[in-house]
Amino acid sequence: MSTCCAPPSTAARRFARVTEILARHRHDPAALVPILQEVQEVYRYLPEEVMAYIATDLGLPPARVFGVATFYAHFALAPKGRFVIKLCDGTACHVKESQPILDALRQRLGLSERKTTTDDQLFTVETVSCLGACGLAPVMLVNDDVHGQMTPQSALQLVESLIAKHAKETP
Ligand code: FES
Repeated sequence: MSTCCAPPSTAARRFARVTEILARHRHDPAALVPILQEVQEVYRYLPEEVMAYIATDLGLPPARVFGVATFYAHFALAPKGRFVIKLCDGTACHVKESQPILDALRQRLGLSERKTTTDDQLFTVETVSCLGACGLAPVMLVNDDVHGQMTPQSALQLVESLIAKHAKETP
């Protein structure tokens, strides 16, 4: 019987995609930020157990990994929806009535200031400060797509089209 290769540990099998990312970065602790970015693309957030696994693999204290994850606003520590809607509430957008858009989205999706992700994890609705596209106010981002001159009606239409798109893609 061959003894050449130890079987991967349970954690390595469980976090196979994370293991791949760590290997691609040669398990280099200096690459922590890009590693976390890639891992977040896999899970859409950074689960605590995955951060602990990364810390062990890189030989870093878990507090260091958690510290980096909480320092950068870009990292999410709780699950987000498949469609992340970021509605701008900067001055230009606020003046052009972003609040009624936010109210309409929250009402349609059963969300609030405290509950930002739908139970089916299809949508997350957040507010952000100026997105740098004030000429298009009021502006919202859906994942990486910019949508300008929104109204409550156009925002709701967009939500319906995303729901239809998701339904089509889900067997
Ligand atoms: S204030 Fe909304 S894009 Fe600048």
